[in-house]
Amino acid sequence: MPATFDVLSLIQPSGDLTLGNYFGAVANWVRLQDEQRCLFGIVDYHAMTVPFQPSKLRQRTWDMAIDLQACGLDPERCLLIVQSLVPEHTELAWIFACITPYSWAAKMTQFKDKSRQVEAQGASYSAGLLLYPILQAADILMYKAAHVPVGGDQDQHLELARDVARVFNREYADIFPEPTPLHTEAPKILSPADPTRKMSKSLGSKHVIGVFDDPDVIRRKVKSAVTDTGDAPADGALSPGVEGLLTLLDVSGCADEAQGFREEYARGNRRYAPLKEVVGDALVALTDPMRERRAALRAGRKAVKRQMGESSARAREIARATLAEVREATGLPPLPQ
Ligand code: TYM
Repeated sequence: MPATFDVLSLIQPSGDLTLGNYFGAVANWVRLQDEQRCLFGIVDYHAMTVPFQPSKLRQRTWDMAIDLQACGLDPERCLLIVQSLVPEHTELAWIFACITPYSWAAKMTQFKDKSRQVEAQGASYSAGLLLYPILQAADILMYKAAHVPVGGDQDQHLELARDVARVFNREYADIFPEPTPLHTEAPKILSPADPTRKMSKSLGSKHVIGVFDDPDVIRRKVKSAVTDTGDAPADGALSPGVEGLLTLLDVSGCADEAQGFREEYARGNRRYAPLKEVVGDALVALTDPMRERRAALRAGRKAVKRQMGESSARAREIARATLAEVREATGLPPLPQ
């Protein structure tokens, strides 16, 4: 069975995009949209698996649609969807839930971590949290996607999607290609406040730099980034904080400048103020056009919603065709035309 999409990847509407999200995922998607048939989107059903507020959920979903486009995803060059506007995802997820052993879902690391986190907040975790990776399998297999660009954090979920495809193909009908992860060279973007950890919103606001932060906020966060005391370690190694800043410079398209600093530091000159200045400038220059596009898209919010509705409707046609095959194979009656 041929793949309907070469590439598929989705993101949760979890608030403002960070440089970690951008360099780790979205920048890659922007590049891929011109090379392959791609589907990207926002998974609002997934965001409901932990406690959520309805008004915030809706707001964040549209904001993410705007932000992805401001970063360069173009609905003319890829299919860009909102998951819940294709409600067939939940139907396929139900069918998959019924053919997936409970133990496969229960052993997922992310389920164990997140359920613990929710419990630590005094809430009880939902059955949806357990079903999360099965819904993710439905997202991917629905479109018969060949490759799924994801960070290492999603590998286990992708493995489950492959296992579900295998069970379905064996037991019912050979419908689903097994998707493979696409590990492009995603740089590890570190927290400026604690460069021994990955930049992540869950650590708190001082640990992240937002793509759409004001330029002076970006510069301030870079300036206060943790480095080292400036004494050259005997072995010439750079501290994680300095490496983190150099990585940011590399990925912002300033690899030559980064190399210049590396050479200077190798000679023993360990002044970091000039590096921070250059990193701040590079990040602001990179994100300036995105902030501008975001403002324009926000001014035309209605048009963005209409367009997301239209492209999700196109995805829905593909979803309906897949489900017709699945219903036939599993003994459910065909939907009346
Ligand atoms: P989410 O919303 O946490 O993250 C979206 C994507 O960004 C990748 N990512 C990173 N990659 C490298 N370095 C980082 N620092 C970094 N931070 C985030 C994530 O690996 C992910 O690919 N469960 C998914 C959403 C999802 C999905 C899907 C993804 C639902 N259905 C189907 C792919 C296919 C998630 O929570 O991603």
